[in-house]
Amino acid sequence: MEKKVTKIGVLTSGGDSPGMNACVRAVVRTALYHGLEVYGIMRGYSGMVEDEIIKMESRSVANIIQRGGTILKTSRCKEFFEYEGRKKAYENLKKHDIDGLVIIGGDGSFKGAQLFSNEFDIPCIGLAGTIDKDIAGTDFTIGFDTAVNTAVEAIDKIRDTADAHDRLFVIEVMGRDAGYIALHSGISTGAENILIPECKTVMEEIITQLAEKERRKKLVNLIVVAEGDEFGGANEVAKFIKEKLPHQEVRVCILGHIQRGGSPSCIDRVIASRMGYHAVECLMEGKHNVFVGIVNNKMSYIPLDEAVKKKQRISEEWMKIVKILAS
Ligand code: F6P
Repeated sequence: MEKKVTKIGVLTSGGDSPGMNACVRAVVRTALYHGLEVYGIMRGYSGMVEDEIIKMESRSVANIIQRGGTILKTSRCKEFFEYEGRKKAYENLKKHDIDGLVIIGGDGSFKGAQLFSNEFDIPCIGLAGTIDKDIAGTDFTIGFDTAVNTAVEAIDKIRDTADAHDRLFVIEVMGRDAGYIALHSGISTGAENILIPECKTVMEEIITQLAEKERRKKLVNLIVVAEGDEFGGANEVAKFIKEKLPHQEVRVCILGHIQRGGSPSCIDRVIASRMGYHAVECLMEGKHNVFVGIVNNKMSYIPLDEAVKKKQRISEEWMKIVKILAS
């Protein structure tokens, strides 16, 4: 028979993402509604290892739904990836009688949760909190919508000045392993080229296109590149273009961490609230070691063991759309 959960811990881990606070709020308030005790674990897995664990009340999460960042702080904890670190973490949870865990984070955080849940008897529920949207098995990740809209707003502004000067801009967006921010922000700003880690970048082809556009006097070009593209980031791409097409006026803009901050969009607040609520429901129902996502507007539950193996793919059709629309 499943053991009834009575005290749950919640943490945010890895790169922060707008909406994490809304999610923490949902976990805390749902747990309290069901009469459970809730503990906030500070700085991701570090707080578990170092015993930075605080009791949370309804008021602890007041006035945070609209705030970016995470009130629980976050980190990437190397110690947790060693067995000794996880054991220490387990002992600390036991000390507080925590018998259920909600982990809000990206793929690295899920890997940690998967290792932990296979070794120790505390049920874990993973929720996708990452601006990168690189987690398979969910249509949404908390923070992606806000981040991509931040990028879109910036790129629209860059287009104004690019247009005024007839310039080519190479704009770098976040995405160490994933091109979703580049793809979505690029399509929605009419970028002429989008370079992402999931697709082969043939710079010679881009140079040929640019040279042809030069002949047609189309001098305004925006190239959106994901930071993890195999060719390199915006600086490398711009350097290559300048070498091959010395007449082009090329400028670089790296959007960087502004994409991670800011007030979460309505979508991010809503999905964060739904996911947080369902994470607690899962623990109450005895579900354990699953990742909770949303697919076709319904909650989906994937074992953490499977979730860490799956890769989010980008369909060829997306790249075709980019090519056709940017001609
Ligand atoms: O949160 C994911 C991410 O935004 C990646 O796209 C990026 O490479 C990384 O975080 C950078 O994070 P940090 O500067 O915190 O190491």
